[in-house]
Amino acid sequence: MAWTVDDIPSQEGRLALVTGANSGLGLETVRALAAKQATVVLACRSRQKAEAARTQLLEQGLTGLDLLELDLADLTSVQRAITSFADRYGHLDLLINNAGVMAPPRRTTVQGRELQFGVNHLGHMALTQGLLALMESRPDARVVTVTSGAQYFGKIRWDDPDWEQGYERYSAYGQSKLANVMFALELDARLQEQNSSIRSLAAHPGVARTELQPTAIASGGNRFEALAYRLMDPLFQSAAMGALPQLHAATAPTAQGGDHFGPNQLGGLRGHPVRCRVAPAAHNREERQRLWELSEQFLDA
Ligand SMILES: NC(=O)c1ccc[n+]([C@@H]2O[C@H](COP(=O)([O-])OP(=O)(O)OC[C@H]3O[C@@H](n4cnc5c(N)ncnc54)[C@H](OP(=O)(O)O)[C@@H]3O)[C@@H](O)[C@H]2O)c1
Repeated sequence: MAWTVDDIPSQEGRLALVTGANSGLGLETVRALAAKQATVVLACRSRQKAEAARTQLLEQGLTGLDLLELDLADLTSVQRAITSFADRYGHLDLLINNAGVMAPPRRTTVQGRELQFGVNHLGHMALTQGLLALMESRPDARVVTVTSGAQYFGKIRWDDPDWEQGYERYSAYGQSKLANVMFALELDARLQEQNSSIRSLAAHPGVARTELQPTAIASGGNRFEALAYRLMDPLFQSAAMGALPQLHAATAPTAQGGDHFGPNQLGGLRGHPVRCRVAPAAHNREERQRLWELSEQFLDA
């Protein structure tokens, strides 16, 4: 049977933090978790957009919504968010690393890393590492990292992960989304080795109508790219459908650490969540460890 939001068990008493919660898949994830009585913290870079999202959800009758300022393109902001969240709550059940940026012209984070690698991967790794201690004693604590079908064409550019030479917008996105799934699996392996009860899982949405593609076109695209997206539009599913794999990873009692979920139709482009394959590099422990060490060097720099 197709898994839907109706299958989410009660989240009463559970505390979730969702990054990029004001838009697209993040907003749908908050809506579904709050509808099942979770307390949800919307971690967003824009206070105004976060307020607007919360207002929309409150108008629907949802409750238990809090806001946290978080700019993943600035590690100082990430550290501030960790401290602020820890002071406010002191525990966490569910972390959903959802926020993302796709295919901008070459830009860098405040700390000088290529923006997509920095926001999609490094910012989330720093956030996760800072929040894990708050999850340790919680039953069924989970970290869910949102990747993409772009993982399958992604490559880690070991000699130039910041794309200082020959920047390609979508190849850099692919690198960051491969890094997301490699991180999720490596984190789970490390948690298991430490006998932690926290689980780390990954999910990808297929293709969903959100602000991701319009923002990519507006910031760095051209009319051919816009046309390509228009031609592909019939394949795109709603943001609510796109959010199902991450909701499944976050809440299904059958989901295991290290699992990766995506849609079940059209080669993973749309449909309901099922377990699905990860890019081969994510199975390779040596590659994952190499990425982990490189990322730690960048986070410590
Ligand atoms: N939609 C798809 O077809 C698709 C396919 C594969 C994977 N994904 C993945 O799904 C996730 C959610 O994307 P979406 O489709 O829902 O796109 P979206 O509607 O554009 O939402 C992206 C969210 O990320 C936030 N964000 C961007 N940069 C940030 C930063 N520096 N710090 C904090 N938050 C930041 C955005 O905030 P602002 O509103 O302030 O910009 C927004 O809340 C992403 O990881 C994306 O890679 C989406």
